[in-house]
Order: sequence, then structure tokens, then C-alpha cells
Amino acid sequence: MLKTKYQLIPTDDEHSLKEKTSAPWILQFGLIFVGLVTLALYTWSPGVVQLEASTLGTQTAVKGFINLEAIPVTSVFQQSTTDNEYSKTANKYLKTANESSATSNEYSTADNGQSTKNIVYNESTARTNEALQPETKRIKFFVNTPQCQMPYLNPFSTNILNIYQRKRYVVCDKDPDMLKVIYNEKDQTYKLHRSDTNSTCCYKQILRAGVRTTADSKYKLLSCVTFPQDFVVPPDVEAVITECRRHNSSKVLQKDGFSFVHPQKPDPIPSSSPEERPSVLLWGIDSLSRMNFELTMPLTYKYFRAQPWYELQGYNKMGDNTFPNLMAILTGFNQTRSYSKCRPTAVGGLDACPMIWKRFKAEGYATAYAEDWASISTFDYLKKGFRTRPTDVYGRPLVLALEKELQKKYIKDIPYCLGRKSSAEYIYDLAEQFTEVHKNRSFFGMFWTNSFSHNDFSLPSAMDARMVKYMRTLDHNGIMQNTIIIFFSDHGTRFGLLRKLDSGFLEERLPVIYIRLPKWIRDKYPEFLDNLKANKNRLTSPYDIHATLKHILELDTPAEQLPRPEGCPTCHSVFQAVSLSRNCSLAGIDDHWCSCGGFTEVSSTDQMAKTIAEQLVEAINQFLISLKGTQKCRHLKLDKIMSVHRKGNSSVYLIQLSISPGGGFLEASAEWNPKTQKISTSVPSISRLDYYGTQSRCVQVKEAKKFCVC
Ligand SMILES: *[C@@H]1O[C@H](CO)[C@@H](O)[C@H](O)[C@H]1NC(C)=O
Ligand SMILES: *[C@@H]1O[C@H](CO)[C@@H](O)[C@H](O)[C@H]1NC(C)=O
Ligand SMILES: *[C@@H]1O[C@H](CO)[C@@H](O)[C@H](O)[C@H]1NC(C)=O
Ligand SMILES: *[C@@H]1O[C@H](CO)[C@@H](O)[C@H](O)[C@H]1NC(C)=O
Ligand SMILES: *[C@@H]1O[C@H](CO)[C@@H](O)[C@H](O)[C@H]1NC(C)=O
Ligand SMILES: *[C@@H]1O[C@H](CO)[C@@H](O)[C@H](O)[C@H]1NC(C)=O
Ligand SMILES: *[C@@H]1O[C@H](CO)[C@@H](O)[C@H](O)[C@H]1NC(C)=O
Ligand SMILES: *[C@@H]1O[C@H](CO)[C@@H](O)[C@H](O)[C@H]1NC(C)=O
Repeated sequence: MLKTKYQLIPTDDEHSLKEKTSAPWILQFGLIFVGLVTLALYTWSPGVVQLEASTLGTQTAVKGFINLEAIPVTSVFQQSTTDNEYSKTANKYLKTANESSATSNEYSTADNGQSTKNIVYNESTARTNEALQPETKRIKFFVNTPQCQMPYLNPFSTNILNIYQRKRYVVCDKDPDMLKVIYNEKDQTYKLHRSDTNSTCCYKQILRAGVRTTADSKYKLLSCVTFPQDFVVPPDVEAVITECRRHNSSKVLQKDGFSFVHPQKPDPIPSSSPEERPSVLLWGIDSLSRMNFELTMPLTYKYFRAQPWYELQGYNKMGDNTFPNLMAILTGFNQTRSYSKCRPTAVGGLDACPMIWKRFKAEGYATAYAEDWASISTFDYLKKGFRTRPTDVYGRPLVLALEKELQKKYIKDIPYCLGRKSSAEYIYDLAEQFTEVHKNRSFFGMFWTNSFSHNDFSLPSAMDARMVKYMRTLDHNGIMQNTIIIFFSDHGTRFGLLRKLDSGFLEERLPVIYIRLPKWIRDKYPEFLDNLKANKNRLTSPYDIHATLKHILELDTPAEQLPRPEGCPTCHSVFQAVSLSRNCSLAGIDDHWCSCGGFTEVSSTDQMAKTIAEQLVEAINQFLISLKGTQKCRHLKLDKIMSVHRKGNSSVYLIQLSISPGGGFLEASAEWNPKTQKISTSVPSISRLDYYGTQSRCVQVKEAKKFCVC
């Protein structure tokens, strides 16, 4: 399998930021040869990940933990019992947290003083009970500039560790593969190899099939074609479902799904000097904050810090959920413009949208976009998707077929395993193929996963070791030599236990983002690197990433001549230093989503707090009455005030409360006018932080569902 072939030699330059220079030819051939030989030893692929994980463990501070991962979880149903084991190791974990704060210290001194001045890592503050320090004791900030004080959150505070349950890598099927895909680098073809000569296998080609409203939701499966041993996959076959049986038996023993990225012929624009045109890889994980990334993916976190990856700690989302935040990156539009110009709910609307990948395509780049979990995909959840395939390589037909044709195992209501592999791994394997096949030319790929992060903030831990392995594979394949990689999320956790903590407000607003630059860019444009490092602790937003992508298309254009995002004309490439006087509105971030400005706790027994809370509930009742079709909703009363925080020095208060009947848990921001003793608030932007489930089944009005109790 492709993934096995390239993952054999672990990097040992973990501790140096030195780039691998390309190996001489003889050596490269040697490595490929060793790879092929070792391929045979790696035949039982489900074991590979565990092997690698335990190898990694020996190099890291979290060793004790990772060894636990070496025990394969054979079925997802064992998860509940293994969770117990994790809580038993909580002590060990606290120790790890301690150690990790020690490395933070190292890091902040190693980095240039200017950019890290704001962040003071002090071991005596590493252990806190609450992630968000009270303002009076606050000494750490993600951003501490005149217009923006974004408080630091400790991912290892005890209130978070109490609800965190580390997960193991999920082995979807422990049986050895009956069928393998072998990629031939020389002629860029794929062979289907049966491991067991007693078997017969056939493939069903997957095609895009829908028209009009079903354009992005239907696929077609051709009839099963039996193929001989080491069959070379025809270049028009991009995705298949395979079935393997014993000879003379009708019983299907293994069913798999595979993608194949073929070279484009003819190559539209022969790569001139690749050194002038970096490739771009957007590697996105839904609902992952920078804090939760550090907590749940410690190996990846450590890997990034040892390699030339640059973090933006003051990266603040600009809208509520995935769509507005991704659209800000892909189009530079604000939310209203994303809907009015790109009309995602109309067939063909998104096709007409000026997605950034079209720009790259026009410049001769090969393009790709793939996303797992078809029903909640960014452009298809309550939207119509794309009428024609938006990019050269488009993952959706494969994902639709996998979810329909293969056996599914659900974890936390997520279709986590599709047949013998996890949903996310299909996306990443496709990314691996795409980058490998196009590595001699320029490409732009966006690979987005929802399936191991969306419904459970603990679940990314199941992919941690695997993620490092994917990153190492990209490195070994030489992809990182000419690719700018952006590892990022759209927002943090938006509901559930983590969101309900005091720190949940920031957790939701601060998605993780790391950027990696190839060595030649770091060498040729040292000022980009300096600026990127300075921006680590400045306020940044998705619009800046849009501007950065445009900057990548013309690296030699002077900064002042670069195009600015339409939705935020004051935003710009992160290769330029962000002004110290930037505030949220200058970064295109609405006040409601802004994380600048500390929060001071106000006693929830305070008379003002009570008045605000009561007025809020009344505002919700009035809001419900004002909507049509909400007659069956019951009158709501204030149940309990959970917490009240004052935003910075302003008269804006953030309040968490529960309502009755129904017990809904809400968070609202409200502006208090001390003269009139009245609040102003926007009811639709009040967040519901628990599941409302079927409570509101009697209303169909979308805006009412989070409040209505039938
Ligand atoms: C950490 O903070 C404490 C109290 O603020 C201080 O006494 C101590 O010297 C600090 N330690 C370091 C290593 O800066
Ligand atoms: C954890 O930190 C404390 C103080 O910051 C230190 O005394 C202790 O030795 C550390 N523990 C470990 C296991 O590193
Ligand atoms: C193939 O089948 C024969 C007869 O059933 C059996 O002896 C042999 O071990 C099988 N070979 C493999 C590789 O499974
Ligand atoms: C399959 O069936 C054919 C005839 O029905 C027989 O000749 C052949 O030996 C069988 N092969 C195996 C592996 O059982
Ligand atoms: C969104 O952007 C458009 C221009 O693209 C602008 O006219 C509009 O006022 C913006 N809307 C908001 C809410 O900022
Ligand atoms: C990629 O480039 C290398 C060196 O220029 C060349 O040897 C190799 O054949 C190319 N590979 C493909 C698939 O074109
Ligand atoms: C942000 O800064 C700009 C320019 O200094 C200013 O006009 C604007 O009022 C500020 N916005 C907020 C919300 O403070
Ligand atoms: C907060 O307000 C007080 C008085 O209104 C003022 O003296 C102080 O400078 C303000 N602090 C900040 C950080 O704006």
C-alpha cells in the first residue's frame, strides 16, 4: 500500500530544525528498494500503527501513555471499558502536563524574545484548577497588545482533565488485508495485489452521478469487474469498492474502498522551476481549539514544535460554525456576502463562487478537495454542494459510496469506521496520493476531516500518533520541500462539557493553526519568517489566511500591492507583521466572537447579575412569541445563574444560565445600561451549550429550536 511504502524510515532529526536536503539518486533508489523489501514485513497493516506509536513513545515525554496505545483496540465497543483505564492513569497525566510546561519554558527562551515576551511560562502556574485564570492573577496571554488582551488558557487545568478521556487509536478491522494497492512511482500507476492467491477479487468503479439537486449527493457504482493478480488500475478509475471472496464461494470476505489519483495528461503547465511556485496543502480538522489540540494531540504538538512549523496563538474565528470561517479563508467574504454571492442553498450557487482554488487552477496548479462524513460536510450540510466537480480531485463520490456500501461503526454518532478503515484516513490517504503524484508540479489541496473531532472533544487523541505518521510520510515523500502546509481548524468545541466550563467562551473562539514553510522560502524571504514569528502572539483571523493564500500566488509582489480580502480590507498576509494596534474590528472579527479583552468574574448573586439574567430570559420569551409557529413553546423561567463575567472594561457581560422547564444551558452576551437598568442583547446569537434533542420537536423554525420547550 502506498501508505506503507513511504513510511518506513523514522526521522531522527526531531530536535533540529534542519531540512533534509534531497538525497543523492543512488541513495533514493536504495531507500525505495529497502521500502519494497520491508513492505513484505508490513503485510499485516493493522499492526503498523501500534508499532510506530510505541516507537514514538520512547522518544517523548508522554511515553507511559503511548505504550497504552500499543494495545490494539479490536472493536470500538471496547472503548467504554478502556476509558476506565484512562481515568486510572490521570495521575500520570498530570505529571505529563507538568513536563510539558517545562518544555514550554525551553521553547519561549529559544524563540526570539520579542514575539514571546507576552507569554510567560512559569512552572508554578502550570497546575491550575481552572483553565482561565482570574483576571487579578493573570500573567499569561496569547495576545497582549494595547488593543487586545487575549487571556491564556491552560489546557491541563484540573477541571478539564476531570472531563477528558484519552482515546486509543481505533482499529476498524484487525484482519490482514486480502487486497493491497501498490503504487509504482516510476510510471505513476497503481497495482491491485491479492495477498492470498486462493481469493478472487473484483472492483466496482465509483462515479459521480447526480444531476440538478442531487448533483452532489448521488454516486453510481458500476458492476463488479474481476481482475487478475497485480492488475494495473486504468487511468480513468479514480475510486472503487472492492470485494474479495474465496474461490468457489459467493461469500464476500473483505470489502474495501480505494482512491487513485492519476497524473494529469498532458501536464497543463510544465513545472518551470518548482522553486518559484510553492504548493499549498490545507489540512483541516473541524472543531479543534489550540488548547484542545495541545491536550488531545501531544505527539503532534511536540512534533510541530521540533520542526519548522509556526503557530498563530491569537487566531480568532470570525463566525459561528464551519461555513463562514472556511468561506473567509477560501473567498475572503464575510458571512452575509458568502451567502449572497455564493448562494450555497441554490443548485450551482457554489459553482459560481470565487473559491481560491480557482485562482490556483488558473495558474496551472493541480487542485483537490476532500472532506469526510458526507452528511455534515461544509458545502452540503443544509446546502446544495457543487453541481460540477469543483477541483481536479474531488473526494465526495468516494465518501458517499464508502458510507453507503461499507459497514459502518459509529462512535459518538459519527460514522467513524467505514469498512476496514476510519473515515478520516480515507481523506488523508487521498491527500498522500494527491501530493505524491503531483509532487513534481504545483498543487493546491484542501483536506478536511470532521469525524474524529466534531462530536467529542476527547476523540482527537485517537488520531494523535497516526497524525504524526501522516506528517512524517509527507516529509519522507519530499512533499514538504516545496509545500506550504496549513494545519488548522475552523473553531473550537461549540457544545458539551468542555464548552460549559468558564473557559468555554475562549475554547470555542480560538481554533488551532500551524503553518509550515519550505526551506527555500525561509531562506529566500527571511522577513516572512520573522513576521510570521512575530504574529505568533498577535491577533489574527481567517481573512488573514485568505490574504496569505493570495500572497503565495505572488510572493515577489510588494506587500502594499497585494490584494486585500473583501470582507476585511485591513487584513493581510501573515507573512507581514500584524500591527500592535490591531483590534477585533480591524481583524474582521465581530464583537460577539472577539476574544480580546479579559473577563472579570462578577458574583452571580449580585443584584445586577440577577436583573440581567431575568431580562435575558424575558427577551427570549418575547423572541419566541415574535416568531410564527411557536405557539406550543412553553413560557421560560430563569432557573439558575451559572456564571457572570464582565468583558474587559466594558459594560458587556457574558452570562451563563439555565432555564426551566427543560433545563437548557445558555450563554449570552448582553450590554448593561446602568442608567436605565436595562440590557440590550441579540437573542439569535445566544448559544445553547447542551443538546436540546427532541425538546423542541413541536417547532420547525430554525431560530426557535434552541430555546423552545414543547
Ligand atoms: C514564577 O512565579 C512565581 C510567583 O509569581 C515567582 O516567585 C517565580 O520566581 C517564578 N518562576 C520563574 C521560573 O519565573
Ligand atoms: C512539577 O512541577 C513542580 C513545581 O513546578 C516541581 O517541583 C516538580 O518536581 C515537577 N514534577 C515533575 C514530575 O516534573
Ligand atoms: C489455499 O487453499 C488450499 C486448499 O484449501 C490451502 O491448503 C492453502 O493453504 C491455501 N493457501 C493460502 C495462501 O491460504
Ligand atoms: C472450484 O470448483 C471447480 C469446479 O467446480 C473445481 O474444479 C476447483 O478445484 C475448485 N477450486 C477450489 C479451490 O476449490
Ligand atoms: C459584508 O461585506 C460586504 C462587502 O463585501 C459589505 O457590504 C457588508 O456590509 C458586510 N457585512 C457585514 C455584516 O459586515
Ligand atoms: C520528478 O522529478 C525528478 C527529478 O527532476 C525526476 O527524476 C522524476 O522522474 C520526476 N517524476 C515524475 C513522476 O515525473
Ligand atoms: C479599532 O480600531 C480602529 C482604528 O483605531 C477604531 O476606529 C475602531 O473604533 C476600533 N474598534 C473597536 C471596537 O475598538
Ligand atoms: C478601565 O476603566 C477605568 C475607569 O473607567 C480606567 O481608568 C482604566 O484605564 C480602564 N482600563 C483599561 C484597560 O482600559
